[in-house]
Formats: sequence, C-alpha cells, structure tokens
Amino acid sequence: MIEESNTLTDHQEEPIKLLVVEDDPAMLIAFQDVLKGAGFEVITASNGEAALELLVHTQPALILSDISMPIMDGYKLFEAVRRQPGGATIPFIFLTARGTREDIFAGKSLGADDYITKPVTTQELLSAVRARLQRSNELMLAQLKAAYKDSLFVLANAIEARDSYTHAHMKRLGLYAKVLGEQLGWDGARLEVLEFGAILHDIGKIYIPESVLQKDSSLSDEEWVEMRKHPEVGALMIRDVPYLASAIPLVLHHHERWDGTGYPAELNGENIPEGARLLAVADAFDAMTSDRPYRQAMSGDDAYAEIRTGSGKQFDPNIVQAMEKCWDSGVIHQIMNNSNTEL
Ligand SMILES: [Fe+2]
Repeated sequence: MIEESNTLTDHQEEPIKLLVVEDDPAMLIAFQDVLKGAGFEVITASNGEAALELLVHTQPALILSDISMPIMDGYKLFEAVRRQPGGATIPFIFLTARGTREDIFAGKSLGADDYITKPVTTQELLSAVRARLQRSNELMLAQLKAAYKDSLFVLANAIEARDSYTHAHMKRLGLYAKVLGEQLGWDGARLEVLEFGAILHDIGKIYIPESVLQKDSSLSDEEWVEMRKHPEVGALMIRDVPYLASAIPLVLHHHERWDGTGYPAELNGENIPEGARLLAVADAFDAMTSDRPYRQAMSGDDAYAEIRTGSGKQFDPNIVQAMEKCWDSGVIHQIMNNSNTEL
C-alpha cells in the first residue's frame, strides 16, 4: 500500500481528493482506509444531501457513491452533481450491493461512469478509481489541447490581420501542409507539430510595422532586414511554452532554402528540419496563389510550375514530389477551390 501511495503521489503536489458517499459507517471507514492508504485525500458524506453540501466548497477529482441511502440516494445525488456548474465532468462511480442487477442497470442508464459491486477487494477499488481518474485526465488534456489551439488561432489571426493575407491563408497553409505530411506517411504526432508550425510560422511578424507589412512596392534594404527577423522573433516568442517547443524548428527555419541561400541560418538540404522544408513548399504555394499588395495572385497551374522549377534549389525534391502526387490526386485543387466557402 505504501508503495502504491508513492507511485500515485510522486508527481502530485497535493494528494488527489476523492468524495466517498456511504451510509454504512463501517463500510465508509473501510473505503476511507483503503483510499487514504493509497495516497488519496478522502472526504466523506453519509448521504446525497450531505455530499451536495460538501460540494459547495470543494471539488473532488472523483465521487464514489452508494446507491441506497437515507435522505437522498445515489441516483438523485448523481443527477444533482451533473446539473451543477463544474459537476458535469467529475467522474462518478456507483457502489452497488452484489447481486442487485437493477442497481447496475439503473446506474448505467443514468450515464454513471462505472460501478463497483460490494463487497469489493482493495485491488478492485483502487484499479477502478485509478482507471477512471486516468480517463478523466486524458479527456481534460484533450480539451485543454483543443482550447490551446483555439487561442493560438486567435493570436495568429490578430497578427495576420495586420498583414495583407486574410486568416484563410493560415488555414489553407495548414491544410496544404497536412496533405503533404500525410502523403509522406507522417504519423499523428508529426502532423500535429506541423499544424502548430503552420499556425505559428509568421507569429514573429508581430514586431514588424504595418507600414512594412502592407507596403505595395518593394521593400528597402533596411525593411528587408527587419522582415527577415520574423522567424527568429517567432521562435523566441514560443521558446518558453513547453507545449509548443516542437514547433520551434518549423517557425525558425521556414524561410531556409534547400540550396542554402535562405534565412536565418542559411541551412541547406537535410540540415533544414523536415517540417520546415515542408512548410516552405506549402507557404510558397499559398503565397503565390494569393493576392498580395504588390501583385495579383498567380494561377494554381503557374504556382505549381514554380514549385517544380524550385525543386532542388529552393525546395526539397522529396517534398516537391509529394506535392506532385497531391496535385495529381486533385487534393490541392480541392483546398484551393474550397478556400472561400469552407475556411
Ligand atoms: Fe514567414
């Protein structure tokens, strides 16, 4: 038990708080002992109403509740918890007496996450609690990631709004990058990094004056110097966000060229991170097919021809080959054509 308590609490600053609701005092003490012994903090209530009072002041990570109890039973408690603000996501496990099938059925039809039949062994109880906490953590992490991505879009949109591109550029770029990555057989984790790279690649432009970003004539030498700082500025901006660290190479090197004449590091060939090489192709294609202050959009055919001409010079031939396959399959056209309606 002590060993288990260590594994549970090693990475926790505070113990995880559980609420146990049970009207049988002996049973309540038994549950409490097992859970405390495993490193959890346990708060207890002897019926649903008492539990709801506790929930006004505290938010447990999980609720374990008996079903038949005086004053307010487990079902009513479950429904009340789900109606509360913040209560919809608390994992809820019913404790049922063994052999009462209707209890199990009723608990499941209410949407309870799990049930444990009593009498329960220490092992059963702990593994049910841990499994449920883990599922809940995974769910929270997924929601957090989605929220994070949304905020990144808001930030990147704010920056793009200063530039002459619309936010559709960023979305399209993400889609081009995704189909190229898929064509190259990249796995989900790499595609996710690519997506962040596509959202964030020009984030460093926040420091470039609008007068430069929106200029409809060529930039002066000094303005070019400023413009060329955006990959490094962008990389610095996300440096301290661990969740985005994997996108740094893409942000920093998306203007490198295969022949080594790009910036900021003049890397060449495979010294350029592969994600940045891919982003360079997708970014160039979308830039060429978008209207810019100093020129009209090129046709898709012309831009595609430019990308192929740049193979082995500006672009990685392998990525250009992936682009050719995506072009032939029609997926590039699909993204181009849908850009006004679906983005
Ligand atoms: Fe850029």
